[in-house]
Amino acid sequence: MPSDNKNLRGGPLVKQLTIDTANFYMEGVGREGISRTELTAQTREIEQAQRRVLAGSRAGLDAEYAALNLAHEMPAQLPQIQKMAADLRCHQDVLIIGIGGSSLGAKALQQALALQPALAGTPRLHFVENIDPYFLQRLLSSLVAETTAVLCISKSGGTIETVVQYLILRNWLTQQMGAATARRHQWVITDPKSGWLRELAEREDLPSLSVPPQVGGRYSVLSPVGLVPLATLGIDIGTLLQGAADNAARCAHADITSNPALEMAALCVLLDTRRSKRTAVMMPYVNRLQLFVDWYCQLWAESLGKWDRTRPGSTPAGTLPVRAMGAVDQHSQLQMYLESRHDKFFTFIELETHEYDLPVPLDSFDAPHFPFLAGRSMAEVIDAEFRATRQVITDAGHPNMTIRLPMLNAHVLGQLIDLYQRATIYAGLLYGINPLNQPSVEIGKRLAIDYLRSTPR
Ligand code: PA5
Repeated sequence: MPSDNKNLRGGPLVKQLTIDTANFYMEGVGREGISRTELTAQTREIEQAQRRVLAGSRAGLDAEYAALNLAHEMPAQLPQIQKMAADLRCHQDVLIIGIGGSSLGAKALQQALALQPALAGTPRLHFVENIDPYFLQRLLSSLVAETTAVLCISKSGGTIETVVQYLILRNWLTQQMGAATARRHQWVITDPKSGWLRELAEREDLPSLSVPPQVGGRYSVLSPVGLVPLATLGIDIGTLLQGAADNAARCAHADITSNPALEMAALCVLLDTRRSKRTAVMMPYVNRLQLFVDWYCQLWAESLGKWDRTRPGSTPAGTLPVRAMGAVDQHSQLQMYLESRHDKFFTFIELETHEYDLPVPLDSFDAPHFPFLAGRSMAEVIDAEFRATRQVITDAGHPNMTIRLPMLNAHVLGQLIDLYQRATIYAGLLYGINPLNQPSVEIGKRLAIDYLRSTPR
């Protein structure tokens, strides 16, 4: 039963995430956990990381860590963002071209927050990420150009996959409607000054918004990159930003006991460097967070998987993020988690309030087989499964933490986004690497272009 529709869209109910790190510590999980003494010994580094983040966040959108300021800076841009969203909303289908940080955040929040049924008058959003010709061909054959909009999102304005998709889609629009009309079906979000896409937007006079230059792709969900698609769906982006701002206020201290992002980061780094936990499994017990885990995986992997060889004695940084879903992966991955190498730590995500719940109906034949289900609902069963799994993981000695979401709404998701962006930056600083760049990925991109240049057509 719907509890309160306003809550579904991030209405007035404002509740904090509960972040329970007790099982990351030795008291909770035994010798595989981190001792308070080990953590205290890191106080200087932890305080230094907080000082770096504070200093690097001072100049608004020009700051080094500008992504952490989006929650405060974006409200001023909401009129332009809502205008673009309103224009897109005039279409039945919106194709969003972008990859990595230019799509994962909006996709994740769409899955977590989109209204069911959709808000009247909102279009179908299609995220066109991978350059899979079969997928694009199938998609195009189901669309009508006259009622389709194309939104091209690329921070650099030159990512090969995005360029290829855009060129094909622009051609498709043009063939169906002619160049002048096709132009009125295209929107752009990119760097304010540089890149092919910016030049094109200016040359063709395409409506566009900017990604703040200091905000990298995977940290851009709270910029127009994520906000425009979400606003197009009628998601309350003001409340999303407010949730992020509230979490930022919660993480303002250098003392880990009053800064959950800093505590999480310090513990994750220690679990890697002191306990050889190389794998970070994230396991929500909420289907609608499946794509949030994808967003987290990109953020964590691309930001922290680094090896700064210029530092004497440095070793590779980062833990491999792994997707799991409760209760499904209890029937797939859990056996390995329990009995194989002790090289993992876990983050469970549980939902406190389910907007809908279904009673488990038993008749007189079923009841004797499943007496423990009598009077139970589906939410109670998944909750029991989560508790049981966490218990066996803990009993096996695996460090784990739990994030408890009071409900799934825009404010809560805003908090979660800020928590992870902040924890990732702290973790990078504690590892001694730059969490904002992705140098090795750039090499691969250049090589793909060289390959296209040098192989015969
Ligand atoms: O986080 C990042 O910087 C990357 O994952 C980018 O988002 C991705 O490569 C897409 O780049 P762009 O937005 O420049 O097209």
